[in-house]
Formats: sequence, structure tokens, C-alpha cells
Amino acid sequence: MSDVVIELRGVSKAFGEKVVLDDVGLSVVRGEVLVILGGSGSGKSVTLRHMNGLTRPDTGEVFVDGVEISHLAEEELVDVRKKVGMLFQMGALFDSMTVFENVAFALWEHTQMTDAEVAGRVAEVLGFVNLEPDVMPLLPSSLSGGMKKRVSLARTIALKPAVLLYDEPTTGLDPVTAMTINRLIVDLNTRLATTSVVVTHDIASALFVADRIAFLEEGRFVFVGSPGEARRSEVTALRAFLGAQESRAPQETAAT
Ligand SMILES: Nc1ncnc2c1ncn2[C@@H]1O[C@H](COP(=O)(O)OP(=O)(O)OP(=O)(O)O)[C@@H](O)[C@H]1O
Ligand SMILES: [Mg+2]
Repeated sequence: MSDVVIELRGVSKAFGEKVVLDDVGLSVVRGEVLVILGGSGSGKSVTLRHMNGLTRPDTGEVFVDGVEISHLAEEELVDVRKKVGMLFQMGALFDSMTVFENVAFALWEHTQMTDAEVAGRVAEVLGFVNLEPDVMPLLPSSLSGGMKKRVSLARTIALKPAVLLYDEPTTGLDPVTAMTINRLIVDLNTRLATTSVVVTHDIASALFVADRIAFLEEGRFVFVGSPGEARRSEVTALRAFLGAQESRAPQETAAT
């Protein structure tokens, strides 16, 4: 198995006149938590959506486990999306379904599991995200924001993806709840032996969860490196980005 699980090679993407990604290259290394950092509208979500074929590049290639996916037919992408699970920016639970049904849905749709096996798997993945079985009959409307994120995450991991894509997993959560989600991201990546790509503009979250940070600015990754290297980086845009949020970030003693 290659060390690189997902690779974007020379990817460009424009919407109308607006060039969002300009000849982008990025590799996701097996087992890591890679954070994609950048300002609002910089193209973080668009980058993430290339990784499971939700968006196709105008030019360039996207490899998942060595397979080029940008030319695959929609039905072939179903298998890619089982392998590369995504937690969407807005969570998107089905409001009229219970927690149990929300998590079971993907299993009913995509597997031949029996009802008993589905019930077992739902209980198991709810456990992985630290939710008690008594949430199963509840509707999403009765859950807190943090619990909804956990249910969305349980639904995503139910199909045992090899890669987890998170789009703004802590947005809209209070700092304490956000930190429990950050811990969960790191914990799940280890316990499930997955690879994770986390899109965020929250620097505290990025520094906490990342093995590596890729910083997106004007359609390109202008920095890729460890959190320590990010803090010491001379890249002007990254320095400005980190500096602007400095008061919210956990401080390290003077950069070495
Ligand atoms: N389907 C689309 N059609 C047209 N424009 C789009 C589409 N998807 C994204 N864009 C544009 O591409 C740019 C990058 O969008 P993207 O959603 O990737 O930003 P982002 O970095 O995720 O921002 P945010 O932090 O606000 O979520 C934006 O200008 C957005 O309006
Ligand atoms: Mg986004």
C-alpha cells in the first residue's frame, strides 16, 4: 500500500470567471490528520469535494488509492464515496428520522446487513462518538449542536470508510463543545485506523488536530507542513492568518 491515499495533481477549477483552484497539487498521507486552512471563500470546501468526486476538476487529476477518479461515472463514484466518507459543513441529518434511522440509513442503502446486524452496528458507532444508546429514538430537533455533529459523524463512520473528510466540523459550536469534537477527530483517526482531512478556518482547532497543515491562498497551497512549521513560517499570508486569530489560539512559548 502506498503512503499516499489521496492525491490532487495539477487540479484547476473555476466557476464562471472565478478561478478557485489554480494548478493545485496536494497529497494526503495514509494515517495522518491533514488540515486544510484558509479564509472564507478560499476554496477549502471545493478542494475537499474533489477528494470524493463530488466536484470534478476542469483540468488535472485526482487519485484515490492510486485510482484516478475524476473521469469515473457517477455509479463508480458510489464505491469511492464509501471509501472516502464525508462529514458535511451543515451536518445534514434527516429531520423526520430518528437518530437510529439516520445512522442506519446508509447501512440499509449500501449493505446487505440484517436488521440485527444494522442495530448492532448503529449501537457500535454511536459508542465510537460517545453517544448513549438512549439517544436512538430521538429526533435531530431535540439534540444540541454538538450531539448532531456526533450523529452525523456516526452516520459517516458506519460504512467503515478508510478516509474521513470533515468540512468545518466545529463551526457554530461553543469552544468547549468544539474541543470535544476536536478530541473525537484525533481519537477516531487512531482507533479506526483512518486518514482524515479536516477543513477549517479555526486556527485553534487546526493546531490541535493536525499532523500537517495545508494553507490555501488565492487558489494555491502556499504552505504545507507541521503545526510547528506553520507557526514559524515566513509565508506572509499564513503569518497574517495566524496573527489575525492569535488571541484565540493556544500560545506556544517563543518560536524556536
Ligand atoms: N457550485 C458552485 N458554483 C459556483 N461557485 C461556487 C460553487 N462552489 C463554490 N463556489 C465558489 O468557489 C469559491 C470557493 O468556495 P468554497 O466553498 O470552497 O470556499 P471555502 O473556503 O470552503 O469557504 P467557507 O470558509 O466560507 O466555507 C467561492 O467563491 C464560492 O462562491
Ligand atoms: Mg467551506
